[in-house]
Amino acid sequence: MTTEAPHIPVLLDEVMAAFEAIGEGFFVDCTLGYAGHSEAILRRHPALRHIGIDRDEEAVTFSMQKLSPFKERSRLIRGSFSEVVPRLEEAPIAGLLADFGVSSLQLDKSDRGFGFEAPVLDMRMDRRSTKSAYDVVNGYDAQRLAEIFEKYGELKGAKRLAQAIEKRARQKPFESAKALSDFIAGVLPSRGKNHPATLPFQAIRIEVNDELGEIERLLDAIEARHFEGEIVALITFHSLEDRLIKRRFKRWERACICPPEAMRCNCGKNHALGKALSAKPIVASKAELSRNPRARSAKLRVFRFEKGSVA
Ligand SMILES: C[S@@+](CC[C@H](N)C(=O)[O-])C[C@H]1O[C@@H](n2cnc3c(N)ncnc32)[C@H](O)[C@@H]1O
Repeated sequence: MTTEAPHIPVLLDEVMAAFEAIGEGFFVDCTLGYAGHSEAILRRHPALRHIGIDRDEEAVTFSMQKLSPFKERSRLIRGSFSEVVPRLEEAPIAGLLADFGVSSLQLDKSDRGFGFEAPVLDMRMDRRSTKSAYDVVNGYDAQRLAEIFEKYGELKGAKRLAQAIEKRARQKPFESAKALSDFIAGVLPSRGKNHPATLPFQAIRIEVNDELGEIERLLDAIEARHFEGEIVALITFHSLEDRLIKRRFKRWERACICPPEAMRCNCGKNHALGKALSAKPIVASKAELSRNPRARSAKLRVFRFEKGSVA
């Protein structure tokens, strides 16, 4: 098998800069993918030990080979980060990275069913999971479909599209992503350069993989068990994800935890867990965008914990 990366890591220089002053211990890459970020971190920090997590078997198999030069200090785990991170026993964790969303390989491989032209309707990151895009598209009623298009796609015309999909699926189930994207293009007007199915596909993918729930549970796990000095860097690809991170970082930065109706502070005002490294997210440079258009919606937020959690 080749170890040439089928995926270019986004914001690589910025991620490396975020972890430049990383302390001793473990580095957890929650979204190992094709190990672009992990390999660079392992090379740059020879004393760090590494844990790589991915729920996609193909990604783990590929990265196992790619990271074989570092196998003495690297452990790879197939599973979802929301389940694996709370169970990690390794300590201290000095750094944690998550680069959410799908990899280019997942998008490009037609048998995964993520792309508009794919001959299957799947979109599962973990092929062991029971719910696929086929089940969502052909099994959800119009109301449930409209809810996910609104919530996860912020789609105008969500109800109309949902009703049209339900009607057609009852006559003849959608068998492929291609059939679905062509159908959507006939229902929704095109807007700008993007395919009319972009937002509906995003919404279906988020539903199939419970992507926002996964992020919330990862943030809960980090909050429950973080270490002093731990650096957390999180890369998102759309505003729904970025909003979750931004809100959580604000909460972690809050010194005062008195209820809003309290007349004066009596909590000691010393509850901040640490600091977000910048108020605004870090985005890709022009040079990176010209090399990798996928970086155009990437946003990186970095948090440094100053207090460890009490075990
Ligand atoms: C954008 S890619 C990561 C690319 C990686 N940083 C690299 O440099 O190659 C996202 C990866 O995260 C994985 N992933 C997404 N959600 C996950 C979750 N909840 N648990 C574990 N892995 C997840 C996907 O399967 C995919 O391989």
